[in-house]
Amino acid sequence: AASAAGQPEHVAVVNTAHRGAMGHAPENTLAAFRLGIQQHSDLIEADVQRTRDGVLVLVHDTTLRRTTDVEEVFPDRAPWRVGDFTYAEIRQLDAGSWFSEEFAGEPVPTLAQMVELVRPSRAGILMELKAPALYPGIEQQVADAFASYPGYVRSAVRAERLVVQSFDWQSMARYHEAQPSVPVGLLGRPDESRLAELSAWADQINPSFRTFDAAYVDRVQELGMEVHTYTVNAPADMHAVLDRGVDGVITNYPDVLEDVLAER
Ligand code: G3P
Ligand code: CA
Repeated sequence: AASAAGQPEHVAVVNTAHRGAMGHAPENTLAAFRLGIQQHSDLIEADVQRTRDGVLVLVHDTTLRRTTDVEEVFPDRAPWRVGDFTYAEIRQLDAGSWFSEEFAGEPVPTLAQMVELVRPSRAGILMELKAPALYPGIEQQVADAFASYPGYVRSAVRAERLVVQSFDWQSMARYHEAQPSVPVGLLGRPDESRLAELSAWADQINPSFRTFDAAYVDRVQELGMEVHTYTVNAPADMHAVLDRGVDGVITNYPDVLEDVLAER
């Protein structure tokens, strides 16, 4: 963008709290989302999957094992897949103690609980559809969930405070069909030869920070898309991706990123 004087306009880099501020609090919990908001993140990233009875819950792994006490509570239910449990069962789990006793009893949140927490704040949501091939129809379901909040989609999109992303690009094509007004991001690094075709409907290309250079960012941006890179936690790496011209940085430490951005 250029100002009236022809000088490059300063466009703020988007600071996204990865799974909430997961460097400081248990990932994908309301505590981590709250901390992301307190640490001035622009967006809070979360991973959505679906329970056996159809509730949208926020968990990263496709099993509950690493981030909850599911093995103790339901010892006979190996391999503890998210989609094998009802929400009433998942609600009994502790998703905080594994990280620290300070967070004992933090539940696995629902997508609705996250929207209700984040919506009144100045932060927005970067919602990742995690392993959507396991959950047929989840694209329409997530779109309907956002649309169930009156006016939410319109106001959040206008403020650039709602994006949906996935490593599954076909799922994102379906999401775009279901809810064309909401920007979609493709996680990973599509080959340069595919970028023009993808730019017909994708809004962001979101690669790991080790996988691209400044020329790649230029090409994505020339096609009208943005680059938000993950997961950048060390200040030196933050400076390196900012030097490549990215639009946003996804980090476990939004407080560290805020300081780095302030230094530049
Ligand atoms: O937002 C980017 C990042 O969340 C993608 O990787 O494995 O942390 O979900 P992962
Ligand atoms: Ca994620």
